[in-house]
Amino acid sequence: MTLDLFEDATPPPWRETIAPGAVVLHGFVHEQGAELLAAVQSVVAEVPWRHMTTPGGYTMSVAMSWCGHGWNSDNHGYRYTQRNPRNGHPWPPIPAILMALVEEAAQQAGFARFVPDACLMNRYDVGSKLSLHQDKDEHDFGAPIVSVSLGLPAVFQFGGLQRGDPAQRIPLAHGDVVVWGGPARLRFHGILPIKAGSHSLVGPHRINITLRKAL
Ligand code: SIN
Ligand code: FE2
Repeated sequence: MTLDLFEDATPPPWRETIAPGAVVLHGFVHEQGAELLAAVQSVVAEVPWRHMTTPGGYTMSVAMSWCGHGWNSDNHGYRYTQRNPRNGHPWPPIPAILMALVEEAAQQAGFARFVPDACLMNRYDVGSKLSLHQDKDEHDFGAPIVSVSLGLPAVFQFGGLQRGDPAQRIPLAHGDVVVWGGPARLRFHGILPIKAGSHSLVGPHRINITLRKAL
């Protein structure tokens, strides 16, 4: 038997605990990649990708879209929004496939009955990154964050509760899901600059989808 046989094969799903309350479910949505991408595209048709300006005045390298609730950034900080300010309509609902998969992922990570109300989507182009930050604008820290990776691989930085704490570097691939909650809910995290490449479904991008209980 030679290892060559397995070079192009998808590794079986496996689970990696990275901290108390934080788990990577490698390959968890690998089989649903095309369906998830279609769900992302249906949301983006209504909420086009946009590069937001941070409260500090920087333009993010990551482009964002969302559903469930919306997201806004201005010089007062970040906040969730319930309606599209352009037309007063609610934001598009979270696609059913996402609701189902993330409830199952949260359950497997030890967080039963996770019902998110907001979904933020990030599109990373080659070179895009996300600096270390905490997700702390949600009203309910009792619920975890469930984060789905599609497309180009990335290195996820997963730090501690203080910005200066050392951060682990965790490789994430298409189809991986990270869940962090409980004692890990407020850990700092980020994404190192995306390396050049092209993914068979997603092209020269990484798409990350995070599900949250925001309001
Ligand atoms: C985030 O922190 O909101 C996104 C993380 C990621 O892109 O994996
Ligand atoms: Fe985050």
